[in-house]
This record gives sequence, structure tokens and C-alpha cells, in this order.
Amino acid sequence: MSKQITCPGPEFWQGKYDEEHLPWDLGRVSGPVETLVRHHFPPAGRVFIPACGRGFEAVYLAGLGYRVTALDIVAPPLDFLRAQAAGRGLEIEILHRDMFTLPANYDGAFDVFLEQTCLCALAPRFYPDYEALAYRALKPGGRLLGVFMEVDFDDGPPFNTPPDLVMGLFPPDRWRAEGPEPIVPKSPDRPGPEYLARFTKLG
Ligand SMILES: C[S@@+](CC[C@H](N)C(=O)[O-])C[C@H]1O[C@@H](n2cnc3c(N)ncnc32)[C@H](O)[C@@H]1O
Repeated sequence: MSKQITCPGPEFWQGKYDEEHLPWDLGRVSGPVETLVRHHFPPAGRVFIPACGRGFEAVYLAGLGYRVTALDIVAPPLDFLRAQAAGRGLEIEILHRDMFTLPANYDGAFDVFLEQTCLCALAPRFYPDYEALAYRALKPGGRLLGVFMEVDFDDGPPFNTPPDLVMGLFPPDRWRAEGPEPIVPKSPDRPGPEYLARFTKLG
């Protein structure tokens, strides 16, 4: 494991998995991600899933034929994902590391950067680093396709990631933005409303 540069750090997340306190974990691929895949994914390509958790989206996408790289900062959800992939005969690249230490050989590697409950897991001071990570990981023309969440409390995670904040995070000289599109009705599984947003890397 690489050294900690993020917050909350690995001890926090390890504790959640040790306690099996996983309120974000739906136990299946989420409906909004299925919508993104159906309407906005390229027909094939390489997908990066940062902060993948137990990785239901990774299994789903690999099953559809995408080349998936799934990453998390702690091991327990990755062990679960590894077992799920093996049980289905799926090849998924699984990285155990802090997303902000993604090696340079992944620069420009991905067609899709899939966001779901990743940004809201990071303290807000890391949001510029998140934008920079997405920019360097995607190919030119690659897309960050995201499900973002709002909450009405300050003390995350999950941190509030409202549309004005998220749309402002992706500068127009680097990205073409589409959205936000609210998800209605609200999922009973989430503390606040969610919306879809899409960002295409320019250049
Ligand atoms: C709220 S959970 C969401 C998991 C998954 N996206 C899902 O929807 O089920 C946040 C995940 O982010 C991981 N995480 C937090 N900070 C991270 C970082 N800097 N790098 C990689 N993973 C991180 C945690 O270990 C946890 O599994």
C-alpha cells in the first residue's frame, strides 16, 4: 500500500468494513449507473472505477465486455470483488491503493471514469486533486460519467456535492460539461437526492 495522502484515510474506511457498516453499499449495481451505461457509455473500452468499494459496478461492466480497472484504498472490499470476479470468470484489474497515487502508466488510459459515491467520500480540499486525477487518467475525448449526491449536513462523509459545486469543478477549457440531470424519484437507499453529470475531456 502507498502512503496516505487522502482524508478520510484508510483507517476510517477499514473501520467501516470491519464493522460491516456500509450504508452506501446497495449489494447490486445501482439504477443510475445502469442508466449511464445504457445511454452514455461507449460500446466498448476501458473503464476506471475509483473508490470502487465491493465493486458491483465493476462486475456488471466486465460482464458487458468492458475492460475494467477498479481501485480502492482498503483491502476488504477488494477481496470481495476479487472473489465475485473469479466466481463469474471475469477479468477485472484490481488496484489496492490511494487513488491519488495512480501510477503514471495509467495516464490517458481510460475511455470512462465512473463516478459513484467517490467524490462525496473525499474531504472537499481534495476536489481539485480529483479533477486532476480524472483529467490525467482519461484519454482525450474520454468521459467522466457520474452519479453525484447531495446531503443536507456538513459533516461527511458523505460530503455534500451539489450541482453548482460539481459543475464548477471542471473548467471549461479542459472539459465539456453536460448536466446536471436530477434522478427522480429519489432513491430510498441514499440520504439525499442524486443527479447525473457528464464531463468530456477536451484536447
Ligand atoms: C462511500 S464508499 C463507496 C464505494 C462504492 N463506490 C460504492 O458505491 O459502493 C467510498 C469508498 O471509497 C474508498 N476510498 C476513500 N478514499 C479513497 C482514496 N483516496 N482512494 C481510493 N479509495 C478510497 C473507501 O475505502 C470506500 O470503499
